[in-house]
Amino acid sequence: MPACRTFLKHCLVRPFWTQKLSRLSPPERKALAPRTLNVFSLLTTARVKLARTYGEILPSSFGGVFALAPAGRTAFVDIGSGDGKLLVAAADKFEAVVGIEKYRDRVATSKQNLQSLPEEHRRRVTLIEADCNDEDLSESLVAFTHGWQLLLFCNNVAFPAGLNKRLAGNVLRLMQVWPQNVCMVSALPLDTLASFFVQEVPFHTSWGTLHVGNVYTSSTVPQVSIAS
Ligand SMILES: C[S@@+](CC[C@H](N)C(=O)[O-])C[C@H]1O[C@@H](n2cnc3c(N)ncnc32)[C@H](O)[C@@H]1O
Repeated sequence: MPACRTFLKHCLVRPFWTQKLSRLSPPERKALAPRTLNVFSLLTTARVKLARTYGEILPSSFGGVFALAPAGRTAFVDIGSGDGKLLVAAADKFEAVVGIEKYRDRVATSKQNLQSLPEEHRRRVTLIEADCNDEDLSESLVAFTHGWQLLLFCNNVAFPAGLNKRLAGNVLRLMQVWPQNVCMVSALPLDTLASFFVQEVPFHTSWGTLHVGNVYTSSTVPQVSIAS
């Protein structure tokens, strides 16, 4: 089924919408019957939703990611936290948990999912509604993680190359200024961090696929002054 979904998204929905509609001039678009436009907008909505949410890590793989936490007090951060299921599970293991999610509807779903937690665990979780690349991670995280060691997870399997590049630069900067160890796990490799790669971690996704995540650690990153 995953192959079928990928085929639909990349071969049918995307070309149909982007190519057909972009070729029309504004007057031609206006001339289209309203019902046709509705179909176009439905397809767009479906495509945007697919692009935002597919490929979530499955609960059976949560433990493998959490096990990468460095020994000692560690905060867990999910960059692109989706519907917050990983945050809910992390709140059971980590005393500080942060989710950064760009889309408001995902944040709203996360808030609902977090309601399932006992109050004591729910208080450990902070949701930041933001584009992870607009954030200065060191600034936004320090307030919610007490400056502890960090275990960052990013299921960036659907992130475009440009976004991944900026993410890698952002995480490198974080690693350089953070006073404690930072461990980063990303589904797709982050080239900028290549020299800090330590191991791979397999995890299953909702597509039914097995991904090999990449683990990077700051223990070998040269530190720079925060002021630089
Ligand atoms: C594959 S889902 C991962 C969800 C969850 N972390 C998991 O692994 O199950 C990727 C998430 O990243 C979010 N996302 C995409 N671009 C983002 C960005 N620039 N900043 C923050 N979140 C982003 C998407 O909305 C989506 O919820």
